[in-house]
Amino acid sequence: HGKLGEVWNEDMSSAMLGKRLRKVVQNYQAMNKYGVQFQGTSRTRSGHKLSGPELLCQLKERVVVTTLTSDLKPFSGLPWGPQLPPRPLTSDLGPFKSCAVVSSAGSLRNSGLGREIDSHDAVLRFNAAPTGGFEKDVGTKTTLRLINSQVMASDDHRFLSSSLYSAGSLVAWDPAPYSADLTEWYNRTDYPIFQQYQRYRRLHPQQRFYILHPRVEWQLWDRIQDNMAEAIQRNPPSSGLLGTILMMSLCEVVHLYEFLPSHRKTELCHYYQRFYDAACTLGAYHPLLYEKNLVKRMNQGPDLDIYTHGRVTLPGFSTFNC
Ligand code: C5P
Repeated sequence: HGKLGEVWNEDMSSAMLGKRLRKVVQNYQAMNKYGVQFQGTSRTRSGHKLSGPELLCQLKERVVVTTLTSDLKPFSGLPWGPQLPPRPLTSDLGPFKSCAVVSSAGSLRNSGLGREIDSHDAVLRFNAAPTGGFEKDVGTKTTLRLINSQVMASDDHRFLSSSLYSAGSLVAWDPAPYSADLTEWYNRTDYPIFQQYQRYRRLHPQQRFYILHPRVEWQLWDRIQDNMAEAIQRNPPSSGLLGTILMMSLCEVVHLYEFLPSHRKTELCHYYQRFYDAACTLGAYHPLLYEKNLVKRMNQGPDLDIYTHGRVTLPGFSTFNC
């Protein structure tokens, strides 16, 4: 009791992964589906590793968290354009004092964190993660839900009809090519995000529903790569990190749960499914391993919080000056 076990090592590298996962990461690294071009100015590779506060400042200054608005091209010229909100999410929601970001990790199972999560002013959840049946471990409150375009498009998730998505405000995202403008992305999304958005809006016109500006994904990706000593997967960051940055721009303090695994760490992928794969926690498509290294560096809470609660404490962008 109270004895500190191992927590996330902020210098994790692909060399520390098992053979199978290492191979998967290498394959994604080689692929470059989105045409990523990045000239790292990397201070890491030139010897200087940024401190947590320095990293926080980089994120605050170089990642502009915003969502699509109806006045942006090409949407302003499209018949359905007025379905998009007139103002970005950050003007409509918050500011909140304290926020919880609930990763969907299997290690939330039997965590008993529900009451603590619900005590926050706002709670962010991801994709198809339910509260029903898991209230003791993940709570009941949903202020925001960040969903990827794959979930929106897949038949299994019944995105248009399931009540899972009716709580709180929705934010959707889809990977854009690295250098694409909004028109190029609009004509070449990974999944039919805009088609599903329009359908959902017609069925649920009262619910707030935003689309993340795809620039956010790559601005964040640049920060991850720039601060790593090795080449990372050239794919967008996971929903988990995107949602964390989103909440850091809405809240004074953000508690992130089971993104860095607690003593409950498990190969169970999601707390709500019986599917086991270490890639869910360590990354395959997403540069998740490196996202976790950065989060570990920025954490302002004690390691014991990670070990016992899977809890990381991050300051909101409005609370510090650079
Ligand atoms: O799988 P999904 O993307 O819906 O999960 C939401 C987020 O939770 C992921 O993007 C990832 O950041 C985080 N996660 C994790 N470990 C897991 C499962 C999810 O860190 N085992």
